[in-house]
Amino acid sequence: MSVVFLNGQFLPKEDAKISPDDRGFLLADGVYEVTPFYEGVPFALDRHLERLEGGLAFMRISYSVDLIAAMHHKLIAENGLTDAPTALVYLQITRGAAPRTHYFPKDPVEPTVYAFAKAWDRPTPERWDQGFSVATVPDRRWSRVDIKTIGLLPNAMAFQDALEAGADDALLIRDGVAIEGAHMNFWGVFDGTVVTHPRSNHILPGITRGVILELAAEHGIPCVERAIQVEELASAEELFFTGTTGEVRPCVKVDGAPVGDGGVGPLTRRLAELFRAKIEETKSAAVATGL
Ligand code: PDD
Repeated sequence: MSVVFLNGQFLPKEDAKISPDDRGFLLADGVYEVTPFYEGVPFALDRHLERLEGGLAFMRISYSVDLIAAMHHKLIAENGLTDAPTALVYLQITRGAAPRTHYFPKDPVEPTVYAFAKAWDRPTPERWDQGFSVATVPDRRWSRVDIKTIGLLPNAMAFQDALEAGADDALLIRDGVAIEGAHMNFWGVFDGTVVTHPRSNHILPGITRGVILELAAEHGIPCVERAIQVEELASAEELFFTGTTGEVRPCVKVDGAPVGDGGVGPLTRRLAELFRAKIEETKSAAVATGL
């Protein structure tokens, strides 16, 4: 039985009831976060909460994130996921339920706060070693995708279009630039340098992306933040994606054409190893401090 959190209560999922007037349902008027847990230990939860606070401020939804960390831990425990190798908490905050208007409700309304926890699986090492394919799809999203809103229709359609084109995932193209994936940030390796799109209103500032940038700097891996043009993809030595639940995911084929020699490249492997090591370090630190 799945236990979820709704508006201050932990309850069985079957008992969680949300009003059909909820502005999340009617207008996609809300924000969300997905935070990974490894054997009950959150990874970069503080950064996820900081991004969430930024999103709430942008949306002008007044809600304190103070109790969210404790709620996440309790959800993981209540769902028996403390020992799960890989789990996550999905959290969504909408403006709340009110008669439908395009403008914000005139009378104060309580935000709707909903969260669930679940396990997820890493690809097997054999599957990861094969790498993943992508299809390029136009980026049809709005111009503030740096805010993690629940309005994911263009992402969902892009992913579906990519699947129907026979690929594993989508690569979004905006004005000739390979911007990011439908649910992950995008990276390339050119002349031995790791490249990813700079922070802007056209990409989500991924938490995994931030950690990878730090790891590259710490370990002397050459790395720059600049736009990757679509024409450059054919000459990329390596391509990969990063994100919560995707971690570091090698991309070996774009629109049917192999990337580099068609295998998973050395810098992708190195960054994936460093990222796994960072997770292990976080777990050990949590055990040592009893948190
Ligand atoms: N997706 N870009 C987009 C468009 C995303 O939706 C995500 C995350 C990322 C990676 O961000 P992070 O490293 O913070 O997970 C980049 C989440 C996991 C989702 O929608 O389920």
